[in-house]
Amino acid sequence: MVSILLSDNLTGQDVTRVIVIVGVPGIGKSTLAQLMYSDSRVQGYFDLKVWVCASTDLNIYTVTKTILEAVTKLPCDIEDLNLLQLRLKEEVTGKRVLLLLDDVWNIEDRIEWEVLRSPFQFCQQGSGIVVTTQSEHVAGTIRTLPAYHLNPLPCEDSWILLSKYAFDGGSLITDPGLEVIGREIVNKCRGIPLAIKSLGILLRTKPDREE
Ligand SMILES: Nc1ncnc2c1ncn2[C@@H]1O[C@H](COP(=O)(O)OP(=O)(O)O)[C@@H](O)[C@H]1O
Ligand SMILES: [Mg+2]
Repeated sequence: MVSILLSDNLTGQDVTRVIVIVGVPGIGKSTLAQLMYSDSRVQGYFDLKVWVCASTDLNIYTVTKTILEAVTKLPCDIEDLNLLQLRLKEEVTGKRVLLLLDDVWNIEDRIEWEVLRSPFQFCQQGSGIVVTTQSEHVAGTIRTLPAYHLNPLPCEDSWILLSKYAFDGGSLITDPGLEVIGREIVNKCRGIPLAIKSLGILLRTKPDREE
């Protein structure tokens, strides 16, 4: 993903490339986006980086306002979407911008997306928008490049993650029976890191087999 963001060959006339990460809740979309966002190569490449959590009550107006406030670091009281977009356009024009929209779930259709992204057509060539979403519909609506589908963790990695939280990576296993039970529990998490991590934290306080 970093190399896509930094590559010079853009397809079509799009100034801003759009990368979509899609997967069920807790699979690691925001974590992956965060790793990319803070990668040292990415730091140096963009003039402006903005991270917006879009999960609560996203509509074009509120998201545009949030982006503008994040860019200017000032509160904004513009009530008209059109004026808001003009202000944002002024802020991003000529800059190489990375916009991260985390957890987008209610973009209805392509037209809505085109309106939302329109100020970013004035960014410098090579700008990027990264979207994370749990919705296949959203992913299909906004993607231009193939979407990244996150897969569950493999069995052994799941166990390593669980034991990291439950037993400090194994050093707290006092009873070998706990590993057997732990592996059974982790199989039920279906490779979802959020579930594994949460259970690991919980199991840490339950070191005996009965519990
Ligand atoms: N590959 C991974 N290995 C270990 N932990 C992970 C991994 N991916 C995600 N996590 C952890 O799982 C939790 C959920 O991840 P998150 O990125 O918030 O999921 P999502 O954004 O898809 O809902 C976080 O606590 C994160 O640290
Ligand atoms: Mg997330």
